[in-house]
Amino acid sequence: MWRPTFNNSLLCAWKLLGGFALLFMLLVHAQQDDDQSGFISIDCGLADNSSYSDETTGINYISDARFVDTGERQWPEYYSGYRKIYQSLRSFPQGRRNCYRIKVTSGTKYLIRALFLYGNYDGENKLPEFQLHLGPNFWATVRLIPGTKLVTFQELIHYVPAVQNYIHVCLVNTGSGVPFISALELRPLPNSTYPELKNNSLALINRRDTGGNREYRYPLDKLDRLWSVDYNRTDWSQLNTFKDITDSDYSSQPPSIVMKSAATPKNRTGSLDLYWEKVSGSKTKFLYYLHFAEVEKLPPNQSRLQYISKDGELFHEPFALSYLETTTISWRWSLTQNTTFSISKTKNSTIPPILNALEVYLVKEFSVSETNQEDVDAITDIKSAYKIKRNRQGDPCVPRDYIWEGVSCSSYENERPRIISLNLSSSGLTGEILPSIFNLTMIQTMDLSNNNLTGSVPEHFSQLPKLKTLNLEKNNLRGSIPGGLIQRRKHGLSLSLCDNPYLSEQVSCKKKKHNINIIAVAGTIFGILILLSTVAAVLWGFKRKRQQAG
Ligand SMILES: *[C@@H]1O[C@H](CO)[C@@H](O)[C@H](O)[C@H]1NC(C)=O
Ligand SMILES: *[C@@H]1O[C@H](CO)[C@@H](O)[C@H](O)[C@H]1NC(C)=O
Ligand SMILES: *[C@@H]1O[C@H](CO)[C@@H](O)[C@H](O)[C@H]1NC(C)=O
Ligand SMILES: *[C@@H]1O[C@H](CO)[C@@H](O)[C@H](O)[C@H]1NC(C)=O
Ligand SMILES: *[C@@H]1O[C@H](CO)[C@@H](O)[C@H](O)[C@H]1NC(C)=O
Ligand SMILES: *[C@@H]1O[C@H](CO)[C@@H](O)[C@H](O)[C@H]1NC(C)=O
Ligand SMILES: *[C@@H]1O[C@H](CO)[C@@H](O)[C@H](O)[C@H]1NC(C)=O
Ligand SMILES: *[C@@H]1O[C@H](CO)[C@@H](O)[C@H](O)[C@H]1NC(C)=O
Ligand SMILES: *[C@@H]1O[C@H](CO)[C@@H](O)[C@H](O)[C@H]1NC(C)=O
Ligand SMILES: *[C@@H]1O[C@H](CO)[C@@H](O)[C@H](O)[C@H]1NC(C)=O
Ligand SMILES: *[C@@H]1O[C@H](CO)[C@@H](O)[C@H](O)[C@H]1NC(C)=O
Repeated sequence: MWRPTFNNSLLCAWKLLGGFALLFMLLVHAQQDDDQSGFISIDCGLADNSSYSDETTGINYISDARFVDTGERQWPEYYSGYRKIYQSLRSFPQGRRNCYRIKVTSGTKYLIRALFLYGNYDGENKLPEFQLHLGPNFWATVRLIPGTKLVTFQELIHYVPAVQNYIHVCLVNTGSGVPFISALELRPLPNSTYPELKNNSLALINRRDTGGNREYRYPLDKLDRLWSVDYNRTDWSQLNTFKDITDSDYSSQPPSIVMKSAATPKNRTGSLDLYWEKVSGSKTKFLYYLHFAEVEKLPPNQSRLQYISKDGELFHEPFALSYLETTTISWRWSLTQNTTFSISKTKNSTIPPILNALEVYLVKEFSVSETNQEDVDAITDIKSAYKIKRNRQGDPCVPRDYIWEGVSCSSYENERPRIISLNLSSSGLTGEILPSIFNLTMIQTMDLSNNNLTGSVPEHFSQLPKLKTLNLEKNNLRGSIPGGLIQRRKHGLSLSLCDNPYLSEQVSCKKKKHNINIIAVAGTIFGILILLSTVAAVLWGFKRKRQQAG
C-alpha cells in the first residue's frame, strides 16, 4: 500500500525515496537549445574555480568556494552509480552554524534544493543529523537513514522579497554529527507559478508522477522540479498517451512528459486512495495539488467523471477532464487526524478515475525578518575587504544566537533589523577606512580602535545621523580632524582619536589618562581646600560666638 505518512522519520523516508529516484534518472541528454538562465547550480566540495556540465541533464555546475568561507572539501567513499554532484561534498566540523551566501534576483520566487550523499566520507560509518536554515529561519532537519538509499534532498519554494538580493543557506550542528552538503540548486520560477505562495514558503513533501516509471527533471521540466515515481502501488495501473499534453512554460503545471501517463485503479470500480498520516501535535498546514489530464480519446458513449472524497465524505464536486489538457485541483489542509483522500468515479461515469501527478507541500511561515539589505551589503563588504572570517556568517543580526561578533542590532517587531553598533577593535584591520562603513546609516557606536588603519579621517563620519560614539584610537590615521566631526563633538559625540601619531592634532592616550589624573588630582586638591576653608570658617564662627558669649 502507498502510505505517505507524516511523522518525521517517515516523512524523511519519503525524501529518501525521492532521492532514490535520482539513481534511476532517465538519461535525458541536454538539448541544444537549453535555457538555464538564472539557474544557480553549486557542486559543494568541487575544486575552486572549476565547473562542468552534468552529463545526464546538461546543467552546468560550479564550485561552491566563492559562496562559503568555511568547511572542508571531502570525498565520499561510495558514490558509484550516483551523479557527479555527489562525488565531492563540503563538511563543517567547526562552528555551530555555517552558511552559504548566494546572490539571487530580488522579488523572485526560487526553488531551492539541497542534496546530500554521505558515502562514509569521514570513515566513521555514522550518519549525521543536522538542521538546515534559510537565513534566520528553520527550514528542515536533515536525517540520513541507513539503508541502500544513500541520497536525500530538501526542497523549498521561497519568495525572495524585493528588498533582498541574496539568500543564506545555513547548516546547523545540533550535536548529532558533522553537517555536510553535496550540492545546492537554485531555480528562479516565473512569477505566475505557485500563486498560493504569498508571504510564506513551501517545503516539498512529495512530488510524484503517478503512473510514470522513471524520474524526470530538467530539461523536460523547464523549472527543474524532480518528478519521482511510485514504486510500490500494487493496486494501481498505468494509462499512457503518445500525444503531448498542452503545457505552458509560465505555469506551475507539470510538463507534458509527466502528464502523459496516469494512474488508474486496477479494480475498475475502485478508487485511487491517498492516505496521509497526522503530524503529531502541530498546526501544520499542507498544500495539495492534484493534476489531471485525459489521456484516452473517449468514444461518445463513454465518459470519465470523477470526484474527490475525504474519509468517505464528498470533498470536491464531480469534475470532467479535458483531453490532453491539464486540470489542477489544489487545496490547503491542516492534518488534524489521519486522512484518506480518494478519487472515485461517479455512478454515471463509464470508466475508472485517473490521476496524472500530485504535489504536496508543507506551508512554512518564516517569521523572522532578515536584516536590512543596505546594512547587510555594507557589513559584508567590510568583512570581505578587511578579510574578517571568524564567526561572521549568514545574516549579521538574526537569529540572535548567531549574531556576528562585534555587531549589535536594533530589533523592532515586524521590521528588518538594523545594525546599530560595530566593534572591530583589535581586529588587525589595515588600509583606509572603507566607504561602505558610511552605509551603516543607523550606526550609533563604532569602535575601530587598536588596528592599523591608515589614510585620513573621513568627513563622512559626521553625516551618520545617529552616531554617538566613535573610537579611532591607536591607528595610523593622518591629516587633520574634519570640521564636521569637531562640530559633532561639540554636540555630544564622544570622539577618541588618541595614539594616531601622524594626525595633525595628535594626542597620546596615555597623556589623556594623565590629564584625567591631573584633573582628578586638581579636583582632590580643590576638594581639600574647600574642606579646609569650611573648617576654618566654622572654627572662626565658633571663635566669634565664643567671643560674643564671652
Ligand atoms: C511494498 O508493498 C509491500 C506490501 O504492500 C510491502 O510489504 C513492502 O514493504 C513495500 N515496499 C516498499 C519499498 O515500500
Ligand atoms: C580563482 O579565480 C580567481 C579569479 O580569477 C583567482 O583570483 C583565484 O586565485 C582562483 N583560485 C584558484 C584556486 O585557482
Ligand atoms: C509578481 O506577482 C505579484 C502578485 O502576485 C505582483 O505584485 C508583482 O508585481 C509581480 N512581479 C512581477 C515581476 O511581475
Ligand atoms: C473493487 O472495488 C469495489 C468497491 O470499492 C469493491 O466492492 C470490490 O470488492 C473490489 N474488487 C476487488 C476484486 O477488490
Ligand atoms: C460504446 O459503443 C461501442 C460501439 O460504438 C460499443 O462497442 C460499446 O460497447 C459501447 N460501450 C458502452 C459502455 O456502451
Ligand atoms: C494514525 O496512524 C498512526 C500510524 O498508522 C497510528 O499510530 C495512529 O493511531 C493513527 N491515529 C488515528 C487518530 O487514527
Ligand atoms: C452524472 O452524474 C453527475 C452527478 O453525480 C451529474 O452532475 C452529471 O450531470 C451526470 N452526467 C450525466 C451525463 O448524466
Ligand atoms: C502573511 O500575510 C497574511 C495576510 O496577507 C498576514 O495575516 C500574516 O500575518 C502574514 N504573515 C507573515 C509571517 O508576515
Ligand atoms: C553604499 O551606498 C552607495 C549609495 O547608496 C552604493 O552605491 C554602494 O554600492 C553602497 N556600498 C555597499 C558596499 O553597499
Ligand atoms: C569593543 O570590544 C573591546 C573588546 O574586544 C572592548 O574592550 C571595547 O570596550 C568595545 N568597545 C565598545 C565601544 O563597546
Ligand atoms: C600594525 O602593523 C605593524 C607592522 O606593519 C605591526 O607590527 C603592528 O603589530 C600592527 N598593529 C596592530 C595593532 O595590528
